[in-house]
Amino acid sequence: MKVGIFETSEEASRVGAEQIISLLEKKPGATLGVATGSTPDGLYAYLRAAYKEGRFTLADSKAFALDEYVGIDPDHPEAYRNVLRRQLVGFTGLTEENLHTPNGQAADPDAAAAEYDQSIKDAGGVDLQILGIGADGHVGFNEPGISLASRTHRDALAPQTIRDNARFFDDNEAKVPRACLTQGIGTIMEARQLLLLAFGENKAEAVKQLVEGAISSRWPATILQAHPSVTVLVDEAAASKLELVDLYRARWDLD
Ligand code: PGA
Repeated sequence: MKVGIFETSEEASRVGAEQIISLLEKKPGATLGVATGSTPDGLYAYLRAAYKEGRFTLADSKAFALDEYVGIDPDHPEAYRNVLRRQLVGFTGLTEENLHTPNGQAADPDAAAAEYDQSIKDAGGVDLQILGIGADGHVGFNEPGISLASRTHRDALAPQTIRDNARFFDDNEAKVPRACLTQGIGTIMEARQLLLLAFGENKAEAVKQLVEGAISSRWPATILQAHPSVTVLVDEAAASKLELVDLYRARWDLD
């Protein structure tokens, strides 16, 4: 796990976006795993600007969302398919057909989850997965206590996540969907590269656990320590509880 600590989230987002652009230079048409939430906003903005400058295209790439709310109106602006449309479709070359999201309206969510997992495999797997992290240590919507080998599945949102996401639903917790379909931890771990971003004091404990905690489903993101290719990009606030900052900076500077 490589940890990059930056003064600002903008700088971290630029470094993350450049990692994606350089992957696409080496492997045009690479498959991306795409996260929602506020964290990747800056990274996606940088990618849109770089696309405008002609630096890369996702025209031949597929993108697989990490998760989707169950039961949300498909026209709701916060349905993750709509969030990702606004962020990426057209503005990065990504086409509507190549954007894949779990079917939150499926009559049989378990079957929809299994189909989604299979569709990632059928596409040859994810080359680079963009990740945020929840304040409770979730990745995707893999909330504490989930199997660290889980596949795409339906889960309940943790109370902490409902509180955190109320800001997208008129600050009204009652409007936040209670369930989701999410790529499982085992699914995420099969991506060839993982790129996790975290910003702000609110993420400091989750980042501490992610980088320095014992692997445990209490903090599901800790399993990323067992992945061979993980880059964690944080601002100083999110890094504020890390013990071994000097070592991480020295390791980062080696490259
Ligand atoms: P956020 O969410 O980017 O909105 O903070 C991250 C996550 O829940 O994974």
